[in-house]
Amino acid sequence: MSGKKVLCVYYSRTGKTRNAMTAVAQALGGELVEITDGVDRSGLIGAARSCLDAVRRSTRFLDKLEMKHPITDYDLVILGTPVWAGRCSSVMREFLKKYGRDINRAAYVITRASERVRYEQVYDQMDLYTAAPRLCAVSLRCGDEGEAFWREEFLKEVNKVLVEE
Ligand SMILES: Cc1cc2nc3c(=O)[nH]c(=O)nc-3n(C[C@H](O)[C@H](O)[C@H](O)COP(=O)(O)O)c2cc1C
Repeated sequence: MSGKKVLCVYYSRTGKTRNAMTAVAQALGGELVEITDGVDRSGLIGAARSCLDAVRRSTRFLDKLEMKHPITDYDLVILGTPVWAGRCSSVMREFLKKYGRDINRAAYVITRASERVRYEQVYDQMDLYTAAPRLCAVSLRCGDEGEAFWREEFLKEVNKVLVEE
């Protein structure tokens, strides 16, 4: 815990990114905020809709967000999203469209299903929306035996970044 203001904002369709971001927020004493867009993304039809949204890069308005501070007040904003069709989720894309220009200090947590592919290109896609490139990032395969290791490595990076600021 660094005494710095850390916002951990995430979208999660099936709970994996939520679990990862909850652990990150707890370790850092950060504020945890979930984003949703009111679209029914459950089940197979919801997954197909989400896939289409990701491929088309189409986004919907977000449901109202409750953040304790204006986004510019945070020392670090950690953005968590599942990978959808090799891209960030369209719900996170909408958040980035709306707030990205106000985020100078960003870190990313992406979660994926693939064992082999880490989808690190998603970091660069997300950087297109933020005021400055990410300070650090991690790709997690939730439930994988390496998950805790990579999360800890990420937390070390984040703590360095918070001290250096
Ligand atoms: C529409 C859709 C597309 C997906 N595309 C990919 C993909 O391209 N690569 C991958 O490794 N996992 C992919 N996944 C799997 C999710 O990224 C992975 O299960 C993630 O951890 C789920 O996070 P969540 O439970 O927070 O929603 C996809 C899942 C969905 C629903």
